[in-house]
Amino acid sequence: MTTQSNTRGFTSNIGAILAAAGGAVGLGNIWRFPYTLGNNGGGAFLLVYVFFVLLIGIPLMMTEFIIGRRSQKDPIGAYRTLAPKHKGWMLIGIFNILGALLIYAFYSVVAGWTLNYVVLSCGNQLGGCDSATIAQKFAEFTQGSFWPLFYQFLFLVLTAAVVFMGVQKGIEKMSKILMPALFILLILMCVRSLTLGDGVRNGLNFLFKPDFSKIDGHCLLSALGQSFFSLSIGMGAMVTYGSYIRKEDKLFNSSLWIAGCDSLVAILAGVVIFPAVFAFGMSPAAGPELVYIVLPNVFNSMPGGAIFAVVFFLLLTIAALTSTISLLEILVATLVEEFHWKRSVAAVVSSLVVFTVGAFCTLSFGPLKDVQIHGFTIFDLFDRLTASYLMPIGALAMTIFLGWFFPKAEVRDELSNGGTLKVKAFDVYYFILRYVAPIALIIILVSGLIGK
Ligand code: PFF
Repeated sequence: MTTQSNTRGFTSNIGAILAAAGGAVGLGNIWRFPYTLGNNGGGAFLLVYVFFVLLIGIPLMMTEFIIGRRSQKDPIGAYRTLAPKHKGWMLIGIFNILGALLIYAFYSVVAGWTLNYVVLSCGNQLGGCDSATIAQKFAEFTQGSFWPLFYQFLFLVLTAAVVFMGVQKGIEKMSKILMPALFILLILMCVRSLTLGDGVRNGLNFLFKPDFSKIDGHCLLSALGQSFFSLSIGMGAMVTYGSYIRKEDKLFNSSLWIAGCDSLVAILAGVVIFPAVFAFGMSPAAGPELVYIVLPNVFNSMPGGAIFAVVFFLLLTIAALTSTISLLEILVATLVEEFHWKRSVAAVVSSLVVFTVGAFCTLSFGPLKDVQIHGFTIFDLFDRLTASYLMPIGALAMTIFLGWFFPKAEVRDELSNGGTLKVKAFDVYYFILRYVAPIALIIILVSGLIGK
């Protein structure tokens, strides 16, 4: 394989890092991480989460980048190109595509809520409301039909518009502006939350002080699922973006940066949310609505809160957008490269399919809330199924492919940019790829299933 620069993808290293970080940082960090941590007992979950990011998350992100950049293809084409005589490996790519579709279906529901909050906060409609009223308004909105579907649809249209503009003019350009802005705003929000007085100590204790008795099979599986969800691992997103990374960029360093940004944003989101949860006497285990009910209280309590609310929800929308872009790009890249569809047609058709499936997730808060599968609503089922099972299973299959089937020399060649870089940690990486990651994934998947 040659190591020429590619022109179909990102134009710079920083552009690649910010786009992939944009794909990684999203609702998973600011919405899902706090509520999953809240449901799993706080500090102990954080510890396990960080451990998984370092031990498995970063090496697996590198693995996806290697597969993508080596093959220069979408997730299905990647396995076909790297294993031309063994077509069965393409099943991993197909599995990735289906997983991405399911994630996008439920993710777009929450993205739609966020967009609605931009509109609400622009009209200052939550300003001056007490906690109970905010919770009631949230419930009324999400349990409806027309408006949540409308906002979900609008979000799908926004995403399709950016993906349609392409990798360089759409994805890379947007990420370069929006990611730094999100980061700055989050820091400002932390400052406000940390000066809330009463709840701060309890909130920080909840987030950072581990209670080891909380670590069980369920906690491990949730933390693993969250780390995969947050880093976008196991669904081909980083394979797709990996195929856009320039041949001269360093995959190891880029993965460290992306995972570092992603974890930092998640922890900062925790620092924003938990002091506020305790300050306003709410339960940290409130579930998916945590952010949408707690943060408006924080805004109401601060000077200039109405403006902060608009900007925050706008940026949350943007964080969600850079992630939905990466989800849609998985589908579009596959349709364009495998089936030679036009980019515009691929974006429209994929979005319509996602909307059709996603509507069931939206309606599972209202008209379909009694439709339960194993005690889960459709939305919860999609959320758990993808993060706790599909992503780890996709990742497991990928480690077996790259660690046990694909030649080691080629893995080393890709990671070292054709031998031009010294990759000192290669042996550590390869050991994790071959043994640690697959064994840990199997143990946790099995213990999570048994623990149910
Ligand atoms: N990592 C994204 C987030 O944390 O919001 C969600 C996501 C994007 C998951 C892309 C999976 C994926 F393929």
